[in-house]
Amino acid sequence: MKNVISSSDFTRKEIEEIFSVADSIKKGKRPKVKGDKVVALAFFEPSTRTFTSFDVAAKRLGFQTTGFRSEHETSVAKEESFADTMRMLSSYADCLVIRHRYDGAAKFASQITDKPVINAGDGKREHPTQSLMDLYTIRDAFGKIDGLTIGIVGDLKYGRTVHSLMSMLTAFKPKRVHLVSPLQLMLPRNFLKGLNYPYSETSDLGKVIADVDVLYATRIQKERFPDEMEYNKVKESYRIDCETVKRMKERAIILHALPRITEIAREVDRTKNAKYFEQARNGVPIRMALFSKVLGA
Ligand code: CP
Repeated sequence: MKNVISSSDFTRKEIEEIFSVADSIKKGKRPKVKGDKVVALAFFEPSTRTFTSFDVAAKRLGFQTTGFRSEHETSVAKEESFADTMRMLSSYADCLVIRHRYDGAAKFASQITDKPVINAGDGKREHPTQSLMDLYTIRDAFGKIDGLTIGIVGDLKYGRTVHSLMSMLTAFKPKRVHLVSPLQLMLPRNFLKGLNYPYSETSDLGKVIADVDVLYATRIQKERFPDEMEYNKVKESYRIDCETVKRMKERAIILHALPRITEIAREVDRTKNAKYFEQARNGVPIRMALFSKVLGA
């Protein structure tokens, strides 16, 4: 595996290998890697979890990290092009981890550099390493991914974690995926192409809540709306609270890539169903496992 641009870059075998390495890391074993590598974290868009967990993952493997958390810290603010910025980073580092507000930025970077590129979220397109964490957390909770019913609720139009998750699930055999969103935020039709599992679409979470094993909640992505008035119409479409949890299966889990705004009430954090902070914690072992694969174990 060289580049990680899309969830479709992974086979089931590769995903399961990453999970297996992450399991060993959680038990205290470190994958053997050559520690003289430099990872560039090129974050042109804000991030708490992805930046920090990639940084920690690299350092725990003995790599050095460099980079930035905002394009205002770079010469892009002086109108240097993205392409030249990528050329420069690839002459200093052995791997580029890129987050950008534009769809396709990581793929474009991979065409400029011969160093491995990892997509840490590109616009409204994909966030494949988040999907590894999502599925790893599901597998941890149920011991499997096959046969589960998954409900994905919220912003299915702009939410890149949804697009990547839908794609990575094609490597498994979920029983069904329920897509729950307001009409304005339905999953773009191109992301339905190639799905090999049953799915349904509704705007009514109440219709499917009792059926799901996994409820994957998403933030309405304010920053991607062309018009704030349109955002205001849908911003509080769904709110998962303890009343919602009571209607779920007892063992059902709630995931969210975070950050959350109002879509999951704070009171839910105390329930045994809430797994979103564990999901975020899994970012370090999963990204360590991924680095060991991309940069050579
Ligand atoms: N899940 C996620 O991508 O979070 P950050 O935006 O904080 O990195």
